[in-house]
Amino acid sequence: MSALPRPDALKAATPIVINGMRVKNRFVRSATGEGMANADGSASDRLEACLKALAVGEVGLVISSHAYVEKRGQARAGQLGAHSPDMEAGIARLARAVHAYGGRFVVQLAHAGSRADSTVTGEPALCPSAPGTSDGPRCRAMVADDLARVEAAFGAAAALCRDAGADGVQIHAAHGYGLSQFLSPRTNSRTGAYGGSLPNRARLLLEVLGAIRGRIGRDFPVLAKINSDDFLEGGFTAAECVQVVSWLETAGLDGVELSGGVFESGKRTFSRPGRIAIPEGEAWYRDTARAVKAAGVAMPVILVGGIRSLGTAEDLIASGDADLVALSRPLIREPGLVARWLAGDTAPAACINDNLCFGPARAGQGIYCVTEVRQNERV
Ligand SMILES: Cc1cc2nc3c(=O)[nH]c(=O)nc-3n(C[C@H](O)[C@H](O)[C@H](O)COP(=O)(O)O)c2cc1C
Repeated sequence: MSALPRPDALKAATPIVINGMRVKNRFVRSATGEGMANADGSASDRLEACLKALAVGEVGLVISSHAYVEKRGQARAGQLGAHSPDMEAGIARLARAVHAYGGRFVVQLAHAGSRADSTVTGEPALCPSAPGTSDGPRCRAMVADDLARVEAAFGAAAALCRDAGADGVQIHAAHGYGLSQFLSPRTNSRTGAYGGSLPNRARLLLEVLGAIRGRIGRDFPVLAKINSDDFLEGGFTAAECVQVVSWLETAGLDGVELSGGVFESGKRTFSRPGRIAIPEGEAWYRDTARAVKAAGVAMPVILVGGIRSLGTAEDLIASGDADLVALSRPLIREPGLVARWLAGDTAPAACINDNLCFGPARAGQGIYCVTEVRQNERV
């Protein structure tokens, strides 16, 4: 990798326009469940402050945590909701907080599928085919009414986010949650129109996109996050990813974020644990990004997963392998990381990927870098 250009000459510092949404640089906060929403799913002051800090830190595009589109699809307590008109005012506050510092704000829309927490939702979880995988939670197979309701819920949630002043929405089809469960033959053993062949397994995702477009039209940015690979025997593969991304573009998607792995993928889960060698160990799904581009996909590609240095971010953008780079854990520890890099301090992210941040996020206590707090306590 050659020496980095001056901060103001970085390709990663240049703007990009996605279906009319101008993003001031190529840095994205990848969706990160903060566990900071109020009990009813509405945005809290803490959540607003968390997203504001990212915008202050020069993140060009801030993507919210996964937000459930219906109560039955809620993954855990403290999760943001986009499931009812009561959520609109809070989402509007989040949008304003990000806009005030020049950032763009996209809401990630999700259905947890079998990963819904029935102790929170009060109902059995839903999934493509019961009883789910042997290592996954148990659930009820979705019937036609469920599919229609979920599609409509995504459409309604997108309209709510647009009306609240968000700049776009992202469909969460990664990481072994609801739509990702449909894509994977490992979790989808349905017969009929929504199981079996790849077109059938991708049908719900494409219909969700159609339902969103049906509600908000063509002029509002709609992105999707999808696995480049499940990294599991019998799971969704890279070749299938390339095909589905191409179908999504044809169906009117405006940009795709490539991730990878599910909960059961061990060391290749979506938030891989362990220190990352720079630059060799960074950008885990770069090959799939190249394959997506080689297949002729023209919409912007956002790459997430293990990106920890400005050099790698710049190389991804300058090479054209990706159009934007997304970070999750590094921005938990350093919300000001992008501003630091753009100011010329190119030291890699301080995050050490120990994943202790998942603890408070999942407990609904609000995410923070546990390691940083412990280090500060020792000083
Ligand atoms: C605490 C935590 C919560 C996350 N929540 C989400 C989420 O709501 N939606 C999502 O698509 N990915 C979520 N992720 C995954 C990240 O967006 C990202 O794909 C993954 O951590 C790899 O990027 P990184 O190496 O920069 O952390 C979460 C990750 C962490 C650590």
